[in-house]
Amino acid sequence: MAALLEGKVAVVTGAGRGIGRAFALALAAEGCRVAVADVDIAGAEATVNEIASRGGTAASSQVDVTERGSVANLMRLVVDRWTGLDMLVNDAGVFPRATVVDMDETLWDRVIDVNLKGTFLCSQAAARILIAQGRGGRIVNMVSRAAYTAYPRGAHYAASKAGIVGFTRSLASELGSYRITVNAIAPGTVNTAMPRAGGVTDEQLFASGRAFPLGRIAEPEDIVPALLFLCGNGGEYMTGQVLHVNGGSFMP
Ligand SMILES: NC(=O)c1ccc[n+]([C@@H]2O[C@H](COP(=O)([O-])OP(=O)(O)OC[C@H]3O[C@@H](n4cnc5c(N)ncnc54)[C@H](O)[C@@H]3O)[C@@H](O)[C@H]2O)c1
Repeated sequence: MAALLEGKVAVVTGAGRGIGRAFALALAAEGCRVAVADVDIAGAEATVNEIASRGGTAASSQVDVTERGSVANLMRLVVDRWTGLDMLVNDAGVFPRATVVDMDETLWDRVIDVNLKGTFLCSQAAARILIAQGRGGRIVNMVSRAAYTAYPRGAHYAASKAGIVGFTRSLASELGSYRITVNAIAPGTVNTAMPRAGGVTDEQLFASGRAFPLGRIAEPEDIVPALLFLCGNGGEYMTGQVLHVNGGSFMP
C-alpha cells in the first residue's frame, strides 16, 4: 500500500525532541521528505539520523523561529533541496513557568516571541511559497489546553497559545481560497521535557494523568494521529479548527 504522504515535503519546527520529533518520524514514515528544524542543531541531527536509519528522507536545519532571516533561510534551503513545500508544522515552543507577579518582562517577551511570533513568521514564509506553487498545502499549529483553561504559573504561555488559536482561525480564512488548510492541535499533558519545567517531578507528572478520564498523560506518539489526519486526504475539508488530544482532561 502506498504511504499516506508519499513524495510530499514537510517542515517541522521544534523537531529536535519531544512531540516535534515524533511528528517528524511519523511524517517520514508516511513518505514525506522532512526538514527537521530546531534551534538545537544536535537534537535536529539526532532526529534526522533516526529517520535515515528507518529508511526515510530528512535534513536538519538550525532555525530560530523568532528570527525572520533564520526562518527565510530554512524555507530557502527546503525549496532548493526538494523543489517545493507541502506542509508546515509549527511545533517549536517554550514554557518556563512563572507567576505573573514574579515574571520579568524578558520572560514574557521570550514566550510570546517563540510561541506566537515564531508561528506567525514561519506561517507567513510558508504561505508565500504555498500560494506561489498553487497546489494547496497544510499548516498545523501547536496550541494547548492552556489556551482554554486557567494555567497558574503559565499566564504568558496561555496567552501565547490563545493567540495562536486566533491566528489559526484568521489565517485559515485568508488561505482557504488557495486550498491551504490551517488547523491546530491542542494536547493536554505530554511526556516530554516541557511539563517538567519549574521543578515538576516525574511522580507529580504521572500522578496528574491518573485524574484524567483516560487515566494517564500522553506520550508524544499519542498526538501523531491528529497530525496525520490533518495532513492527509481526510483533512482536506477541515480548516480553522482545533483538535483536542488530551485524554479527556479538558472537554471544550
Ligand atoms: N508537552 C506538553 O505537555 C505539551 C502540551 C500542550 C502543548 N504542547 C506544545 O507542543 C509543542 C512541543 O512541545 P514539547 O513538549 O515537545 O516541547 P519540548 O520542550 O520537548 O520541545 C520543544 C522544541 O522546540 C525547540 N525550540 C525552542 N525554542 C525554539 C526556537 N526559538 N526556534 C526553534 N526551535 C525552538 C526546542 O529546542 C525543542 O527541541 C510546543 O509548542 C508546546 O507548547 C506541549
